[in-house]
Amino acid sequence: MTNDAELDLSRVDLERVPRHIGLILDGNGRWANKRGLPRTAGHLAGEEALFDVIQGGLALGVGWLTAFTFSTENWDRSPEEVEFLMWFNEDLLTRRRDELHAQGIRMAFSGDFNDSRVPERNRRHMAEAAELTADNTAMTVVFAFNYGSRAELVQAARLLAEDTLAGRIVPDSIDAQALRDRFWLPDMPDVDLVIRSSGERRLSNFLLWQSAYAEFSFPGILWPDFDRHALVDAVVDYQHRDRRFGGAVDAVDG
Ligand code: IPE
Ligand code: MG
Repeated sequence: MTNDAELDLSRVDLERVPRHIGLILDGNGRWANKRGLPRTAGHLAGEEALFDVIQGGLALGVGWLTAFTFSTENWDRSPEEVEFLMWFNEDLLTRRRDELHAQGIRMAFSGDFNDSRVPERNRRHMAEAAELTADNTAMTVVFAFNYGSRAELVQAARLLAEDTLAGRIVPDSIDAQALRDRFWLPDMPDVDLVIRSSGERRLSNFLLWQSAYAEFSFPGILWPDFDRHALVDAVVDYQHRDRRFGGAVDAVDG
């Protein structure tokens, strides 16, 4: 449900905008249920919310926006819903990729694409969109599709083991960066702010490593009702947090 009102950035400190925002899109099914519609109608309605939020991200100067569009656990949904989500994710790429490209947005994808359950069409359209937009610099929008942090960490560990056996790396030189270099999107920076819509307060296997020092926002808005104004609200709230990254609270006199 997008609100055409002009975006009010007066409350935002544009010098301290989160570099990377993670979005857990949640509440599509409930949105549809409330209207007596099938769950898939909620997913369809969620598209406009996502694209409006991308516009908000551009206006704010956010560098990275990662949207959790399908998790490694979402295969447990009904076959009809899974099939719909596969089709919808792929259809969305073909319909909207030129528009994102024209805005200088780089489209990137993170997830387990070796999983044979991911249809070939999806794989192909993701690769095409990534290639088309690879040199864009206005913002990176990551579609976390068939994404799960545990699977990402497990495959990074597997690659490290292979590299160790092959003598490409010695165990003593394995550090956080070595693991990270083997993530699905190695250049993805840490997440500064994770927003999960619908009022649920869980991370659900989303960017566990990358959000080690993230701030969290749990607006009680069902995803299809989310928009760029709600994004700005979350960023304003984030800017009131005191991020210390394990450091101490600044000493107070007296
Ligand atoms: C999020 O909404 C959709 C996906 C990213 C798959 P849900 O489908 O989880 O909606 P609820 O939680 O059932 O309302
Ligand atoms: Mg849900």
